[in-house]
Amino acid sequence: MARLIVRGGRPLNGTVRVGGRKNAAVAVIPAAILAGGPCTFENVPDIADVRTYLEILRSLGARVKLNSGSGLCIDPRAVRPVTPPDELVKKMRASYYLLGALLARFGTAAVALPGGCDIGERPIDQHLKGLKALGVEVVIEHGLIKARADKLHAALVYLDVTSVGATINIILAATGAEGVTVIENAAREPHVVDVANFINSIGGRVIGAGTDVVKVHGLIQPGSCHHSIIPDEIEAGTLMIAAAATRGQVRLDSVIPKHLEPISAKLREVGATVEENGDYVLVRSNGRPKAVAIKTLPYPGFPTDAQQPMTALLATADGTSLVTESVWEGRFKHVDELKRMGTKVRVEGRTAIIEGVERLTGAHVTATDLRAGAALVVAGLVAEGETVIEGIEYVDRGYERLDVKLRGLGADIRRE
Ligand code: EPZ
Repeated sequence: MARLIVRGGRPLNGTVRVGGRKNAAVAVIPAAILAGGPCTFENVPDIADVRTYLEILRSLGARVKLNSGSGLCIDPRAVRPVTPPDELVKKMRASYYLLGALLARFGTAAVALPGGCDIGERPIDQHLKGLKALGVEVVIEHGLIKARADKLHAALVYLDVTSVGATINIILAATGAEGVTVIENAAREPHVVDVANFINSIGGRVIGAGTDVVKVHGLIQPGSCHHSIIPDEIEAGTLMIAAAATRGQVRLDSVIPKHLEPISAKLREVGATVEENGDYVLVRSNGRPKAVAIKTLPYPGFPTDAQQPMTALLATADGTSLVTESVWEGRFKHVDELKRMGTKVRVEGRTAIIEGVERLTGAHVTATDLRAGAALVVAGLVAEGETVIEGIEYVDRGYERLDVKLRGLGADIRRE
């Protein structure tokens, strides 16, 4: 089990480049199955979930070549709708996108029920609602989702819940349907737009991605393309939160400031300054954070994936903060670990009440999920003394060499 050792109390200072977005990469990679020839990608994050996904594509017959840096080439022409290895599929939540992509191309798919962070029940009923509307028959047995369609047809799908995964999965499947599929109450996250842009680059026609109504035309003659993955606003947000929590000054390069607006706005509320300029943001803070109220919401609201690192920042705020997690009912597991470091937090239903303390002290803690691990890193950077964080495999699923990036900003952090 890998672990991180952090000695806190040092303000972060310097410049760091933000990588490609995990949640875009794990959607665009399966979308490559739809292409008619080799596709090249840049700004692909070097994280465990991406490596897992590329193994899955290889198991389906795709030719995958990782270039130096963050370049990637996927040739999907030899892909066949075989069942990918359960042990790979269960490593993450995003493996369910294989359903939409394989159904669009072959009319059949058999994929194990997905894994992913334990942050709540994580149903897939909206995915299945959309696939069935397109004419797909679905049977779930022996832990497998078995789906098939004689012929996919366009449909009007109204999502009961604004679901990123269901929106993307239905877009993927709808590229194989004749006619124009309309998805209403669609998720508006930037990675939905990124997948739509990829599909349009290979000859598809997806209109309205980024709004709550998305129209998908059947993909007739798929081609090849080059695609650059959008920057990771949650990696950026985590680094911005760490900069503010340690009362430092950090410039983040290769970001899209617009995608960071909900996080930037909240950091300004806690008293940090956030300057936006072209493709970088500069975060500065020289005082104790102020207490605030946060409610996580689908984009463009405050992102649920930044909630956990943010609670670590608010642990030392001046006053009592309220953090309401409206997306995932089980996303406060990091609170018990933060208490070992001296935070005063109590959770009532979906709200964490955080009574700010003057100081945190280092402790031996364990990451319970990806963003909980990030929260413990932020707390360790602030705490007096040494913090040992177990379970770093979780962090490595979604952050590319987070310890290296933080060390580059002056943090005393090492991996064992
Ligand atoms: C994606 O998960 C992200 N994962 C999550 O990031 C992120 O927290 C989430 O979107 C919300 O932004 C990936 O993109 C791989 P949802 P997803 O479907 O698609 C309910 C991280 O840390 N729902 O938008 O699974 C669900 O219970 C991870 O990077 C249904 O009820 O999220 C939740 O309350 C964690 N039925 C809400 O919708 C469904 O069929 C939003 O879920 C699907 C979802």
